[in-house]
Amino acid sequence: MEQGNVTIAPAQGKLGVLLPGMGAVSTTLIAGVELVKKGLGRPVGSLTQYGTIRLGKRTENNQPLIKDFVPLAGLDDLVFGGWDIFGDNGYEAALHAGVIEPERLKLVQEELEAITPLKAVFDQNYVRRLSGPHIKTGQNKYELAMQLMEDIEAFQDRTGVTRMVMPWCGSTEVFMEVDDVHKTLQAFEAGMKENHPAITPSMLYAYAAIMSNVPFANGAPNLTVDIPALQELASDRGVPICGKDFKTGQTLMKTIMAPGLKARMLGLSGWFSTNILGNRDGDVLHDPSSFRTKEQSKLSVLEYILQPELNEELYGDYEHQVHIHYYPPRGDNKEGWDNIDIFGWLDYPMQIKVNFLCRDSILAAPVALDLVLFMDLAHRSGMSGIQEWLSFYFKSPMCAPFLYPEHDLFIQLTKLKNTLRYLQGEEQITHLGLDYYQQP
Ligand SMILES: NC(=O)c1ccc[n+]([C@@H]2O[C@H](COP(=O)([O-])OP(=O)(O)OC[C@H]3O[C@@H](n4cnc5c(N)ncnc54)[C@H](O)[C@@H]3O)[C@@H](O)[C@H]2O)c1
Repeated sequence: MEQGNVTIAPAQGKLGVLLPGMGAVSTTLIAGVELVKKGLGRPVGSLTQYGTIRLGKRTENNQPLIKDFVPLAGLDDLVFGGWDIFGDNGYEAALHAGVIEPERLKLVQEELEAITPLKAVFDQNYVRRLSGPHIKTGQNKYELAMQLMEDIEAFQDRTGVTRMVMPWCGSTEVFMEVDDVHKTLQAFEAGMKENHPAITPSMLYAYAAIMSNVPFANGAPNLTVDIPALQELASDRGVPICGKDFKTGQTLMKTIMAPGLKARMLGLSGWFSTNILGNRDGDVLHDPSSFRTKEQSKLSVLEYILQPELNEELYGDYEHQVHIHYYPPRGDNKEGWDNIDIFGWLDYPMQIKVNFLCRDSILAAPVALDLVLFMDLAHRSGMSGIQEWLSFYFKSPMCAPFLYPEHDLFIQLTKLKNTLRYLQGEEQITHLGLDYYQQP
């Protein structure tokens, strides 16, 4: 295809979406796509479906839809598959998740029922509050990874898809730090054969994906692809990876508000965030070791946006707390409260209260869709390894080890759009605009 700075292979044929974990996010994504395809719903929240991109000067009035500007797969081209520790088909799983009401799910029952999850690679040591019957067995972790690769190959043969993407939508695993076994590919492969405890199931899916030439996006806060061995493998094999932890709900609001406070140089003395939620994700996060993984992901946001080391007086001494409470009556309809203690001119204190009655998976589904379409674009554009330009979608964006992550939602959006402009050989937008005022 005729392009700008890079050659982008056309989005020909079907695109497979392989979902490890067919719970609330996955089924809301699949049901949503099927409803949209039938004209029974709108893909609100999706940049790939609604977003526009300005090209050239403001006076040119050239703002095409992103999906018309870059060659993305269409919704009709998506073919879903996945794995779960429960054997429920997509319809049963969506009913269980309780995000979309049963009457609406009935409209896409047939499409959802056609999706039966494959047996999962799972180990309760890594998600303590879950257990299920639909699980693979194998001699060691390496053999389990091989089984996942066979699943991927069989999916491609069965469906005839030309390309695939794997967004991790499985449960949050226990907190884990980079270990020696994660540092090189050699150590990692040996570790799989020795059943090393620092190699988690999500890492096996990621390994299988990268080995199968399938881009991997990490929707959970797990370590997963955030380790040198898998990053090196992805770069070497020309496979894009990105993560981690879909940015929805409270953290989305934080990365919208904090840049605003900082832009106006208002000080911060405290940010207290608490949530109640009652879905399976909330249940898993009730385990302190899974919660620690989530907490780390949520806490880092403010520090990177406010840069206390540069603004000691305004941001050098704030208290930041994040709490999640599992409260079953709420199901997927989370409620979050933020109390933000700020200070202004002459140090006068002020407070901001945010009470967000959000729907977690309704916010996550368009993020997952955009990641599927953009990761496929990245792959067809020859991009490999960490895709920092997709930071926009994550609570803990992955970036090169010598960089700090960019958390500011507006910088992230600029970066994303500038990457698209770069791919198509369009000029970058600097917002300088002085030339509009120059005399002829
Ligand atoms: N819902 C959101 O808005 C949101 C936002 C950010 C991140 N996330 C993350 O996305 C992930 C999915 O969230 P959800 O709300 O859909 O949770 P969920 O509990 O509804 O679904 C997760 C599914 O993964 C399955 N699973 C667990 N381990 C697995 C494995 N090893 N292999 C295959 N399947 C496995 C579970 O059985 C479950 O069905 C979680 O890690 C969550 O923290 C969700």
